[in-house]
Amino acid sequence: MRHLLEKKVLFFGGKGGVGKTTCASATALAASHAGKRVLLVSTDPAHSTSDIFEREIGPEPIELLANLWGLEIDGALESQRYVANVKQNIQGLFGHHILQEANKQIDLAASMPGAEEMALFDRIGGLIRGEDTRFDLIVFDTAPTGHTLRLIRMPELMEAWIRALSRSRQAMLGIEQDDKTDPVLISLTGRLEGLREFRARLLSPRVSAFMLVLVAERLPIEETARAIVQLDEAGVTVGGLIVNRVLPASSPDPFLQSRHSQEVIYLDEIDRRFSKLSRVRVPQLPSDVHGVQTLEALSEMLVSRSQVAT
Ligand SMILES: Nc1ncnc2c1ncn2[C@@H]1O[C@H](COP(=O)(O)OP(=O)(O)O)[C@@H](O)[C@H]1O
Ligand SMILES: [Mg+2]
Repeated sequence: MRHLLEKKVLFFGGKGGVGKTTCASATALAASHAGKRVLLVSTDPAHSTSDIFEREIGPEPIELLANLWGLEIDGALESQRYVANVKQNIQGLFGHHILQEANKQIDLAASMPGAEEMALFDRIGGLIRGEDTRFDLIVFDTAPTGHTLRLIRMPELMEAWIRALSRSRQAMLGIEQDDKTDPVLISLTGRLEGLREFRARLLSPRVSAFMLVLVAERLPIEETARAIVQLDEAGVTVGGLIVNRVLPASSPDPFLQSRHSQEVIYLDEIDRRFSKLSRVRVPQLPSDVHGVQTLEALSEMLVSRSQVAT
């Protein structure tokens, strides 16, 4: 999986508990060792990068190790920041009365369902566009699959929505008005350009890839199959599969032997169904992955292991 380290944006997705955080962290660590300046971003509300690195990670990047920074983004907090920012942006645009009314509307909009997701999307968009030039690679440890796929489709939806807003603003101003001077249109055009860039980087196989993490069990396999279809539909490159927590093939323990013989059936199914994608198997370690030392061992396996033959 060494080729992944050349990307600019990597997502790690999959069902809850399969090892997204673990694999994202291990890959980020591997990339930092390869000399990349890496930002590991957690967008899962159940943040656990703090646990794995045994450090408090917050809404601004902090340096965890040489070349490796961590960031945990939280929808509620981003939403507050977003609202404050929007209010500031419109400050100069309108008179006092309209401004008061607009601020009221903004507060209302911010309390609507989906507002936090939107704010999260905005922050992620900035990161994917490469606004923070300190980093060569951004690794996203995402929330379980459904939530993340919605976020990935959002630039497309937002573009359509902003285009519609621009059209209605143009209609309101009338054709004789020079579009280039209207602050609302200028702001909408700016948003549109940002979204286009976001989408272009997200859809570029050179820039971005989505890694799917799974374990050799029925439900994760089905969820992976669905995610592949949806990522394909959205035009996002699937970078490969990480089959995590693979049990040792030979064990004197009858319980492990029995688990393994069951697992082999699923491992075969994974190889058969996903033969077009690169796959890497990561063994079940004797204990949880905590702290940098275990992570180092895992990151070594992730990048240097030969891929399963396709
Ligand atoms: N290969 C592995 N061997 C042993 N424990 C693992 C392995 N991968 C993950 N774990 C453990 O499994 C739990 C869930 O992993 P995590 O990465 O947090 O999953 P997710 O982010 O997908 O919810 C954690 O306690 C982690 O330490
Ligand atoms: Mg996690």
